[in-house]
Amino acid sequence: MTEAWYMDDSLEDQRLPHRLDPPQPVSYDGLKKIGVLYWKLNPKTFKEDGTLDKIRKDRGYTYEDCIECHPEKMENYDAKLKMFFEEHLHTDEEIRFIADGSGYFDVRDADNRWIRIKCCPGDLIILPAGIYHRFTLDEKDYIKAMRLFIGEPVWKAHNRPADDMECRKQYVKDLQSTES
Ligand SMILES: [Fe+2]
Repeated sequence: MTEAWYMDDSLEDQRLPHRLDPPQPVSYDGLKKIGVLYWKLNPKTFKEDGTLDKIRKDRGYTYEDCIECHPEKMENYDAKLKMFFEEHLHTDEEIRFIADGSGYFDVRDADNRWIRIKCCPGDLIILPAGIYHRFTLDEKDYIKAMRLFIGEPVWKAHNRPADDMECRKQYVKDLQSTES
């Protein structure tokens, strides 16, 4: 299992871990409750061992590409880092497989608190449509991730507030039904 925890409110560098003191970890089930799915694959063998193919088939992912984030591989790195960190949602799932490097996905829980999810090589993470979230690299400033999608990808980010969007309303509804 990868690691996830509730974040502190400090405004220090977003690339720091921002754990509470004492730490408040979040379990796999805690993530599942808010619709976040997670698998740990073998980063060395995932291509041949069929695990990624099976998930891809089961969930209907037909598109894939690869992105690399690093100050020397990306124009306007600092501005991009800031942009990824804007709280937003999408009309579709956000699916990322971490091939190399690391970073943090932050997601809002049902009480609007930030949960930080650490992503390392082999981690496959799926954020549901309509969840408020953001992303940052960590202090190592490097990640290589595969992006998956069902059909033609829609990357558009809708910054918060986006409460009137259909995908948001549906997400909130699903959240309430899993709670009761
Ligand atoms: Fe996103």
